[in-house]
Amino acid sequence: MQHWSRRGFSDGKSGSEFVSKVVDDVHIGEQYHHFMLASQRDRIVRDSFQKIALDLLPAGADVLDFGAGTGIDAKAYAANGHLTFVYDPSEAMCAHLAQYCHDEIARKTIIEIASPLACKVHAVTANFAVLNHFADHTSLFEELSCVVHQGGFVLASMLNPYYLGDARYGWWRANVMNLLRRGHYAIPSESRIHRFTPWVVAQAATPYFRLERLIPRGFGLATDLYMFLLFRRA
Ligand SMILES: C[S@@+](CC[C@H](N)C(=O)[O-])C[C@H]1O[C@@H](n2cnc3c(N)ncnc32)[C@H](O)[C@@H]1O
Repeated sequence: MQHWSRRGFSDGKSGSEFVSKVVDDVHIGEQYHHFMLASQRDRIVRDSFQKIALDLLPAGADVLDFGAGTGIDAKAYAANGHLTFVYDPSEAMCAHLAQYCHDEIARKTIIEIASPLACKVHAVTANFAVLNHFADHTSLFEELSCVVHQGGFVLASMLNPYYLGDARYGWWRANVMNLLRRGHYAIPSESRIHRFTPWVVAQAATPYFRLERLIPRGFGLATDLYMFLLFRRA
């Protein structure tokens, strides 16, 4: 188990590794929450993700925060007048969300659901590497096509496989050819985390969703740890 301190994790893992490896430890929800709010770099990424989501959402439109974690984004969407459904398979995350979003849950501006299929919304958001927990997104997008209204969207932030900051790691260098040949890979030490090119995810989303926007593009793909993918319901 990893132990968290204010400086990070005692086993030397960085915040991005933590984000990519959230595990079902009973304390992890609280640790994750405080870590994410304290990390300036992650706060900047979160702010830009939320701004894109809120700019895209029509006034009063409902949203599903898929893999909602401790509810940081859900609280922001609800504060902006969007009825927000939250789904997360981790009990630890849900437990902390229930505390952090207690008032919104009581007012029914945030609604916890046991399956993403339990709501019908204009948009689905999945921030901070939720989709990296899937080995293949084909059935996920098929499922989300039943959740998102025609013309609605899925906005996801995923680990950017081209991020050059990861080139210092042996696993990154060992998988460059896999990335170029197959467009995805997973490494044994992160058994539940997969990395994908945006094009592989876009292919899996077809025919239900089409990739409308990728952020960043060009040089930013080498310098940003996360990439944002906007899929429009076809
Ligand atoms: C790094 S956390 C991000 C949490 C939250 N979205 C945020 O912005 O802070 C990744 C989340 O993905 C969730 N997750 C893992 N597998 C999932 C799955 N199959 N479906 C939905 N969420 C999943 C985890 O429980 C965890 O809360």
